[in-house]
Amino acid sequence: MSAPALLSVQGLRKSFGGVQAVDDVGFELRRGELLAMIGPNGAGKSTCFNMINGQLAPDAGRVLLHGADIAGRRPREIWRMGVGRTFQVAATYGSMTVVENVQMALLSHRRELFRFWPRAAAMHRDEALGLLGQVGLADRADDPCSTLAYGDIKTVELAVALANAPKLLLMDEPTAGMAPRERNALMALTRRLVKEMDIGVLFTEHSMDVVFAHADRIMVLARGQLIAQGAPEAIRADARVAEVYFGSGKLVQAGGAASGSGGPARDSRDSARGSGGPAGTANG
Ligand SMILES: Nc1ncnc2c1ncn2[C@@H]1O[C@H](COP(=O)(O)OP(=O)(O)OP(=O)(O)O)[C@@H](O)[C@H]1O
Ligand SMILES: [Mg+2]
Repeated sequence: MSAPALLSVQGLRKSFGGVQAVDDVGFELRRGELLAMIGPNGAGKSTCFNMINGQLAPDAGRVLLHGADIAGRRPREIWRMGVGRTFQVAATYGSMTVVENVQMALLSHRRELFRFWPRAAAMHRDEALGLLGQVGLADRADDPCSTLAYGDIKTVELAVALANAPKLLLMDEPTAGMAPRERNALMALTRRLVKEMDIGVLFTEHSMDVVFAHADRIMVLARGQLIAQGAPEAIRADARVAEVYFGSGKLVQAGGAASGSGGPARDSRDSARGSGGPAGTANG
């Protein structure tokens, strides 16, 4: 009776040399769902993302998009099938205006050639403005991206990702480098768009208060293995998660917000991220 899940991942594995980065990971993601994948540094989150969007070929396992196996297909093909992605490092073009960045994404989605770009100023402008309205940036449409605050640039990036009309959007640490209030605003916006557009979003995030405030469901990865998945309340109460992920077991407190903005040894690292994982590669 039920339709296949938007995304179904089964028995996914990837090793690098002697490191089993992803070890038999399986989960499902439905439309209208905001799903978080959390875990300590090196747990295998980005590697999972890279296998889902085709940047890495799995050693084993299946990645089903609406029931069709896409594992091992090329990133461009997977992107065409409706899997979008945002990157740890914001990738907008600073010399162009906000609306032009979104227009360019619309052109690219429709395979229209960039050589028309000088004329493209008028192309898709209304549609781009509509998308900017959805993310709350219509009033900045004609400002150069270089003049925006970092949080707004990440929001433009979200609009750019949405211009490709994804069914599934992968967001690898979308809020890296952002202040706590901006983080919450971006994830609240993402959550609203997930519901409004009935798309699925899989995201990673090191700030526990953001994760627990916005995710519908949370998966916990440790050393390549999924050690728990469930609703935020269940994850908060999971002793194994507390032990493996949080170390002390004291970090996740009743009533919602976790103390601080991340696990131990996390905060100092957040702002220094960006050049690290394989997620920071160019758009493609
Ligand atoms: N291209 C690669 N070559 C070799 N080892 C890699 C490569 N990519 C990832 N790894 C290793 O695989 C493991 C998982 O890394 P991954 O980047 O997926 O973790 P992560 O959960 O995204 O961590 P973080 O929270 O720091 O972003 C780590 O041990 C990492 O060093
Ligand atoms: Mg990562």
